[in-house]
Amino acid sequence: MATSALCFYLLIMSSAVCFSLSAAQNGNIPQGLALDFYQNTCPQARDIIKAEVLKVVTQNPSQAAGLMRIVFHDCFVQGCDASLLLTKPMVSEQIATPNNASLRQSTIRILDNIKDQLEAACPGVVSCADTTVLSSAIALELVGGPNIPVLMGRRDSQTAASNQTVIANIPAPQLSISGLKQNFQNHGLDSRDLVALSGAHTFGQAHCRVVDLQLTPTVSSDLNAGFAANLARICQPNNSAQNRGGLTVHLNFLSTDVFDNSYYKNVLNKVAIFHSDAELLNAPDTKQLVQLYAGDQATFFQQFKLSFTKMVQLGVLTGQNGVIRTKCSVPNS
Ligand code: HEM
Repeated sequence: MATSALCFYLLIMSSAVCFSLSAAQNGNIPQGLALDFYQNTCPQARDIIKAEVLKVVTQNPSQAAGLMRIVFHDCFVQGCDASLLLTKPMVSEQIATPNNASLRQSTIRILDNIKDQLEAACPGVVSCADTTVLSSAIALELVGGPNIPVLMGRRDSQTAASNQTVIANIPAPQLSISGLKQNFQNHGLDSRDLVALSGAHTFGQAHCRVVDLQLTPTVSSDLNAGFAANLARICQPNNSAQNRGGLTVHLNFLSTDVFDNSYYKNVLNKVAIFHSDAELLNAPDTKQLVQLYAGDQATFFQQFKLSFTKMVQLGVLTGQNGVIRTKCSVPNS
């Protein structure tokens, strides 16, 4: 049912996309998700989310990156259930080691604000999980990315994951290509998903304490020497660890805050920041995809749509499972 609704929508745009999306999702669309899920219960939900995302992304386009990373870190750890947004009364995933307090609090406040508006319009109807995923998809398109039709109907979890679970699920930037592939495979995602979703490093920022992993004790051979010197200038102004704490650098100096395929050009030119980015060149299949996407944005966008769609359907709670949290930061009482 959800497949046919989605296919009908996509047929209007492109029959080729419709075919490949259905194939990718065969048997994988979780029961209970639909494009028009809130049509009867909260028809204004999409407009409310869209208006607020438009406002914040117009003011600060880099919030699109903040939203994308929150979706990734939520979906990869016990599914897209907005557990990442919980801060009370349990220990929050936000301070788990891989998140390292590096998720943008300003982005989390944006989601809390959108959710408050949704609660005012339709109390107890729209989940924090759907709010997060749809906000990210809308923001992505606003900064130049593809239009991705997002199925709705996710419900929220009442509990957050432990530090150990977050560590086990979020890939570390020091991973080798086989470690990265294994991590994605554990989530039912393949090498194409790994390369396409890594393309999200085409926008946003990294904290200097993470960048330092590539600069000290010696400069990594992943990096072009001139680029590494620039990073060091920004991240190590007076070599004081204390000063470095809050500093950030753009992940992509070519086109900051725009979603495009320049990430792949950066990887090929050794000006992508993380070791995990450079590792994509260390297996023939992923290297070939990096080369393909560097020269063909349309193909990258087509794969990103498929891979994002798979990611935002990981481990979703639907039907009688989970709840609709009233506040994204706290479980319902
Ligand atoms: C493939 C394995 C991945 C690794 C090892 C990785 C690692 C990282 C690290 C270390 C940061 C910097 C965090 C900080 O210092 O603040 C970062 C930022 C970011 N990552 Fe990834 N990431 C991966 C995959 C992904 C995926 C799949 C997505 C989304 C589809 C994504 C989206 C982002 C975004 C948008 C940012 C910038 C966030 C912001 O500006 O607030 N990453 N990533």
